[in-house]
Amino acid sequence: MYDKNIISLKNIGVTYNIGNKNTLNALHDINFEIKSREFIAILGPSGCGKSTLLNIIAGFVKPTCGNALMNDKPITRPNFERGVMFQTPVLYPWLNVKENVEFGLKMRKFDKEERSKLSDKYLKEVGLFEFGNHKPYELSGGMRQRAALAGVLAGSPSIILLDEPFGALDAFTKINMQLLIRAIWSSDKSTFFLITHDVDEALSLGTRVLVMSKRPGKIIKEFNNIEFTYHINETVSDKTRFSKEYILLREEILGLIYHQTSDASSYVI
Ligand SMILES: Nc1ncnc2c1ncn2[C@@H]1O[C@H](COP(=O)(O)OP(=O)(O)OP(=O)(O)O)[C@@H](O)[C@H]1O
Ligand SMILES: [Mg+2]
Repeated sequence: MYDKNIISLKNIGVTYNIGNKNTLNALHDINFEIKSREFIAILGPSGCGKSTLLNIIAGFVKPTCGNALMNDKPITRPNFERGVMFQTPVLYPWLNVKENVEFGLKMRKFDKEERSKLSDKYLKEVGLFEFGNHKPYELSGGMRQRAALAGVLAGSPSIILLDEPFGALDAFTKINMQLLIRAIWSSDKSTFFLITHDVDEALSLGTRVLVMSKRPGKIIKEFNNIEFTYHINETVSDKTRFSKEYILLREEILGLIYHQTSDASSYVI
């Protein structure tokens, strides 16, 4: 059901220089592909290299060894084809919400009318159309995340990279954001790569869940054909999360992560 590979990671390793001639091995021999329309969720202990991995795909970090490709071409720098969203939304405080959403389009020299059409469309999609003239400080945390998401969507990226985007939100806002992300994924059939500490988030949004080892991070297990997100979308109910299949998988994944960590810094819900 999925299309071609859009991202290929081959033998990726990252070693950081951390001063005094010391090095830190963050990632080791990472190999996987992301197909168009997949929703990949990545779980792993804190500090295992998840953000490093996302930064490689985004083009912010160059791997020490191996190749990161998008559509068979090396990823050498950030590019609008890969939209990125972090835990702290990136919004310019001196611009209003609409101007923030249009910022990337302006950099890409879209004309004013086109920019306005696109920002209106995506502000509506994230439910912030009425707030276009507001400044970021006038918004709640969840609204700021939605504004940042509208900015990412306005760029029409081929893949959206999310680094724990809901980690700082309260439980209800987080659920609403998850619903919004699922709705966007299922209507546009965009491709998503989501880092999370929350097993339920991974299982209820992902179509493929990858579990990483502690540092140096490796992929230790892949769970393919995760179907829960479709069921949740169809039934609009949370019953799926209480199914036997879901609970067993949740237990297996938690076991994998707890098994390799005993310190309190490796929190997974
Ligand atoms: N620019 C950098 N220079 C040096 N070391 C770094 C750099 N970025 C990350 N690291 C180190 O690499 C390791 C992996 O970091 P990374 O942020 O990728 O982990 P993570 O899995 O995202 O962690 P968390 O779950 O806490 O967000 C950590 O030990 C971190 O200290
Ligand atoms: Mg991180």
